[in-house]
Amino acid sequence: MGRIPEETIELVLASTDIVDLVGSYLPLKRAGSNFKANCPFHNEKTPSFMVNPARQSYHCFGCGEGGSAIGFVMAYENLPFPDAVKKLAARAGVMIQEEAYDPEADKRRKKRSRLLDLHNQWARHMHSLLLESPDAQHARDYLKSRGYGKGMAERWVVGWMPNNPNVFLDWAREKGFTGRELCDSGLAALKDQNSARGGIYVRFRDRLMFPIHNDYGDIIAFSGRQLREDPNTGKYINSPETILFKKSKVFFALDKARRSMTKDKFALLCEGQLDVIACHENGITSAIATQGTACTPDHARLLKRYTSDVVICFDADSAGFAAADKAFAILAPEGMHIRMVQMPQGEDPDSLIKKQGAEAFRQLVESAQEYFSVKLAHETSIRDLNSVRERAALANDLASLIVHVGDKMTKEALINQVATRLGIGAEELRGGVVQAEKEAAKSKFFEQRQRNRDEKPEPIKSQPTEINGSVAYLCHLALTSQESQDWLSEQLESLIEPLDSLPGGSILRKILSKSPDASKPAAIQAFISAMAEEDQIALRRILEQETPPDAVRAAEETTAMLVSTHFQNKEAAIRAKLAQPDLSPEHMVALMNEAKDLQDILKNLQQRFIR
Ligand code: GTP
Ligand code: MN
Repeated sequence: MGRIPEETIELVLASTDIVDLVGSYLPLKRAGSNFKANCPFHNEKTPSFMVNPARQSYHCFGCGEGGSAIGFVMAYENLPFPDAVKKLAARAGVMIQEEAYDPEADKRRKKRSRLLDLHNQWARHMHSLLLESPDAQHARDYLKSRGYGKGMAERWVVGWMPNNPNVFLDWAREKGFTGRELCDSGLAALKDQNSARGGIYVRFRDRLMFPIHNDYGDIIAFSGRQLREDPNTGKYINSPETILFKKSKVFFALDKARRSMTKDKFALLCEGQLDVIACHENGITSAIATQGTACTPDHARLLKRYTSDVVICFDADSAGFAAADKAFAILAPEGMHIRMVQMPQGEDPDSLIKKQGAEAFRQLVESAQEYFSVKLAHETSIRDLNSVRERAALANDLASLIVHVGDKMTKEALINQVATRLGIGAEELRGGVVQAEKEAAKSKFFEQRQRNRDEKPEPIKSQPTEINGSVAYLCHLALTSQESQDWLSEQLESLIEPLDSLPGGSILRKILSKSPDASKPAAIQAFISAMAEEDQIALRRILEQETPPDAVRAAEETTAMLVSTHFQNKEAAIRAKLAQPDLSPEHMVALMNEAKDLQDILKNLQQRFIR
């Protein structure tokens, strides 16, 4: 991988405000001169995650995670260092120049960026076709029939994919996209999987096209809705998985909803893209949807960055409840609190808003009840609870859902609630839950094992480099006070020998030789980022400490102590040698000269440091 020069890293950090950055991922509250939040890297109820604007760093006192803006993006997005720098560079508009050329990484990056270009340009083009093409009249009519006009189409970059595949193919050729790129984007595919000779076909034809964005707002895929009913193809067709689009990690409209989700304190999980659009267009802006697939644990983790409250808004039929059960089973173990909107039979948000208005729907959302209450009400309305068998079957179903509730108290409350409602013993139901728990644990074990086989093991986090206490203190001073650093640099001659004999001494030497600007947090963070990982961890810990008011004085005192201790120890060692019997006369003379030199050094030191 090409190395990004330290100056570029510094520029990226200097152009990034860590409070802004972290604040775009999670809600930050002011706490004195810092900002705090619930740590996104471990489970907690009271915030111990701090962002320090002065140092441009973050630190969690709970789990120990900490670092610069780059470190945050690495940890949060699970990205390697260079990718995190690039992401921040893109956000700040900084050009990245890599020192060494890595053909592989370069190829991947170019490919990604080509595919993003293709998606974004083609989306724009389809959008103008929808608005202007004479051939798209029926598409405009359809949009209108669903109650939407130009404004909505513009906000969501809705487009029209022509029926004639050559429109796309010609456009792509003219823009210089290769057939290979069209296939890699998922917009097209080889007719014959094994041979390019058979030609390519275009995946979407005569469809209303909804772009799917990543959480940064780039278009990474499309969902196309049929304009004329055709039983031979799906009502919706989505892009397949590509290097840009991983269905299990993408929510439709997350880029638009994430800010509202932290503000509204919940996510409204809908089933369809048009439902999400209807919500947003009517002011309910925390609505998202999966891509017509079930929720995955990745989705749960993604969502948890923004909120731990999910309001499910699925159809009120048995398919809707089956989907809600699945979502519950994935989201609840992540500690999410789940409620469900009680939709009238046969309605979805889009149709309900059309019929009864946004306000009626908003009220339904606001009165969403605990998932279990809604589920219980639904089940008891469709089952014959006079039948013992039905009751037992329902108890079983519910037991396998209760299993997923993480919190013990909640679990116990649910068992009692369900037992009472079904008129069965709580003990009996608890037994059912325990049984279901065993089964869930077993299948989880196998799933986990499979995942472990599929995935590479996580690298073990490095241990911090060992650093002598005084050296650590000097590192802290050199990185937080420019005056101390200048003063220490002048003492380098007397410091070198003691530092070479102390753990972590080379780190201080590196600081003094590179002399990063201590008055600029970005420079310090960039300097640290370029070090070995163990050194980084050690330095970040050191930086968490308070800087004393008179930093130069502290540097002087610590240096004096460190240097004199070193030479005193050395002198003591020589004395010990001198005390040995049968020393040769030459050796003895040499040692005595050394001892004399040391005494001079020590005297000198006393004069220099002790004022
Ligand atoms: P409209 O009919 O346009 O209002 O869509 P809807 O969202 O009401 O449709 P429905 O409730 O039938 O489906 C919900 C979601 O499931 C859709 O938004 C799609 O994401 C997905 N979906 C529906 N039909 C299909 C299909 O035929 N193929 C695929 N891949 N997904 C579908
Ligand atoms: Mn619908």
